[in-house]
Amino acid sequence: MKVLVSDPLSEQGLTILQQHFTVDVLTGLSEEELVEKIPEYDALVIRSGTQVTRKVIEAADKLKIVGRAGVGVDNVDVEAATEKGIIVVNAPEGNMLSAAEHTIAMMMALARNVAQANESLKSKKWERSKFMGVEVNGKTLGVIGLGRIGAEVAKRAQGLNMNILAYDPFVSDERAKEMGVTMMSVQEIVKLADFITVHTPLTKETRNIIDAEEFALMKSNARIINCARGGIINEEALADALNTNKIAGAAIDVFVNEPPFDSPLIDCKTLIATPHLGASTEEAQINVAVSVAEEVVSVLNGGTAKSA
Ligand code: NAD
Ligand code: MLT
Repeated sequence: MKVLVSDPLSEQGLTILQQHFTVDVLTGLSEEELVEKIPEYDALVIRSGTQVTRKVIEAADKLKIVGRAGVGVDNVDVEAATEKGIIVVNAPEGNMLSAAEHTIAMMMALARNVAQANESLKSKKWERSKFMGVEVNGKTLGVIGLGRIGAEVAKRAQGLNMNILAYDPFVSDERAKEMGVTMMSVQEIVKLADFITVHTPLTKETRNIIDAEEFALMKSNARIINCARGGIINEEALADALNTNKIAGAAIDVFVNEPPFDSPLIDCKTLIATPHLGASTEEAQINVAVSVAEEVVSVLNGGTAKSA
């Protein structure tokens, strides 16, 4: 059987696949190229770069499984795959700690203007008074989406002595109590929080969950972070809130369109940004690659998938 790996995958994952199947690694394929290649393959392994569209799925004659080495399957037309009996699996746990740590790094960088101060110093300026920061100690962090990553962020922020408010319609009061988190509506959270971070999937309900109406309710010293998916925070509304100093800053890892060179956010001075690096650690990339490779081996050998 043949496996196509169409995004960079760690060596450990490739080795597992190569022990069982013929593996081709062909990255950077266009949709047309993928449509042309896919009929040869029994499995397709991707990260976030490859778009597995309906057209790709329809061209797939032998495909049994699409393995996403990561959490979000929003780059796969899952409906088209399901119609054709193709299993879509992901690696839901392998990168959660890396994404949570990146969120904390972004929050601390926001609080202390690390990125802007670095840029200033490297352009040979010594602007100590320009970069007055804030402590996170004793401050309130609002977490929208208290799943795997949101919960890990909350736990780490509690270690920094922050008070946690959260919104997640699927988390019980009992679980929230266990975690020492106070559940509230989005509207209440945005009024009270000093820092806000979003950790939901991108769905009909979560698209623009933070929009102009929510920015209007925020404190002027509020800072917001998105290490989940572009579109959960409305980019135009965020750019407007930053450009009019309605809020103090934002740290964004994910964008509606990536790369986001046409995004209204790109020129905002109080925005710091990373190019979708939440899962980019050695550890996370090994974890997700191994997890997805094991799923592909199991399914192609007639077994079941754990994360389908
Ligand atoms: P998860 O499924 O464990 O948690 C998501 C949580 O969102 C769940 O608890 C769910 O109940 C909640 N939720 C769903 N709809 C909601 C709504 N309308 N309002 C509020 N909460 C809602 O997922 P996760 O592993 O924690 O991942 C969270 C996000 O992070 C996903 O979008 C994922 O794609 C993204 N992610 C990004 C990176 C990165 O590189 N930046 C890395 C990993 C994951
Ligand atoms: C994910 O959903 O796992 C992340 O976006 C990370 C990635 O695959 O780059």
